Amino acid sequence: MTLRVLAVASECAPFAKTGGLADVVGALAKALRGHDTECRVLMPLYRPLAHLAEGSRCVLDGIDAFGGPVRVLARRAKGIELLLIEAPHLYDRPGQIYLDQTGADWADNHRRFGLLGMIGARIAREGIAGWRPDVVHAHDWQAGLVPVYLRQQGAPHPPCVITIHNIAFQGLFAASTMGDLGLDPSGFTQDGFEYFGRIGFLKGGLMRADRITTVSPTYARELMTPEFGMGLEGVLSARRAVLTGILNGIDTEIWDPAADPALAQTFSARTLARRRANRLALLDRFGLADEPTAPLLSIVSRLTEQKGLDLALQCLPAALARGARLVVLGSGSPDLERGFSDLAARHPGRVGVRIGFDEDLAHLVQAGADAIVIPSRFEPCGLTQLCAMRYGSVPIVSRTGGLADTVIDANEAALAAGCATGLQFAPVTAARLGDALDRAMALYRDRRTWERIMRNGMKHPVGWDRSAARVVAIYRDLAGDGS
Ligand code: ADP
Ligand code: GLC
Repeated sequence: MTLRVLAVASECAPFAKTGGLADVVGALAKALRGHDTECRVLMPLYRPLAHLAEGSRCVLDGIDAFGGPVRVLARRAKGIELLLIEAPHLYDRPGQIYLDQTGADWADNHRRFGLLGMIGARIAREGIAGWRPDVVHAHDWQAGLVPVYLRQQGAPHPPCVITIHNIAFQGLFAASTMGDLGLDPSGFTQDGFEYFGRIGFLKGGLMRADRITTVSPTYARELMTPEFGMGLEGVLSARRAVLTGILNGIDTEIWDPAADPALAQTFSARTLARRRANRLALLDRFGLADEPTAPLLSIVSRLTEQKGLDLALQCLPAALARGARLVVLGSGSPDLERGFSDLAARHPGRVGVRIGFDEDLAHLVQAGADAIVIPSRFEPCGLTQLCAMRYGSVPIVSRTGGLADTVIDANEAALAAGCATGLQFAPVTAARLGDALDRAMALYRDRRTWERIMRNGMKHPVGWDRSAARVVAIYRDLAGDGS
């Protein structure tokens, strides 16, 4: 039986993206098709998506919420079945998905994503245009109220899975928003959506969902500890019987070095020499001089505390002094943006920095750099190390979360067995990252070994095949369909 799944999320690539959440929602929706599962993605119709309204069908109308009209539009785009919530008073705005033009959270985010939960629960319960989901899949705090509303409204309703992509973002709002959101005050308890006197969208979702997944097995374990659980370790320990870590994949059609239109030159593991054109194009884009024997390091990242890039700022000067080059693509904290811009100013011709979000340039960086540096303090899964491996760039990562689960460290055993795909370091300190960079520079000088690591990474399965099957197994288990 084809299983029908309603995915509910605030982001979905390639339509609206601030990070890996979008990539995963989009890629999983596509990957599920190969598993006799039909997925529709419910998300807000943000201003930049207005063009998607054209050619869509209105499948839900006549709703008034938070002082304005709400409709749901259905259409297929880029291979994904979309259900778009049109609520101009909440979503038709300038600025970013979560932030206004001053960089502050939109003051009514509880309404903007409360509505996502409300509409998700309504479609789950009533279906839409003759389509009724067998399972609902809520992603992160923005969809956290889906299971809360479902339970509040009582049976019958389909079962619900919630995925934690990043527990640092919990969707906490003042208790006074409860009435506005139509939440039943009886749920404002430790066993419900109450969290230290506030409403926790994620907390509520974790308490009310039937199953909880997160994006790597290591992060699933880490989440139950005070160091990583960010206050929700108790909730997750209590619910450990329904908590599963399933690794993310990447969309191997979008990330395909043999067919990527963003590259200067496509290539594969068999035509590795062609990769060089991308290195040259990348150096050119960043205004750097080529030095064929110097490793070209890279960073493609949100510039936040999570990513540990302050540590990179501390130890990159030593690597640069020994000849390395560096390109950085990212945006985020003003301190880190300044830190990297200063680094570039101090190393003209050796360090290039692009502050901003640029999808095509991210592809070129992966195709042209020798290595990517990912010193995250925590990393639920991480996608850039997967993209790097597929494109022959060697990941240098901290041993945490999904980084620990996806990269095989080039230690003596792995080198002897010929299976290394990158370098790992722990604990997450500048000193250990410095050691890893030293190790990478030494390996780089041994061209045969380095190329072996590159090729291993390129062969490593980074797509969704294995993981989508695991996700579907959970859906079928919940839907009571063992087939
Ligand atoms: P997170 O979701 O924590 O930001 P991930 O590694 O899971 O980290 O996913 C990040 C995604 O965002 C990847 O697809 C990466 O290529 C992309 N990305 C991050 N920063 C930028 C940027 N400045 N420009 C383009 N793409 C970026
Ligand atoms: C989050 C995490 C990242 C993960 C992504 C997709 O943004 O920070 O590690 O890869 O979600 O699940």
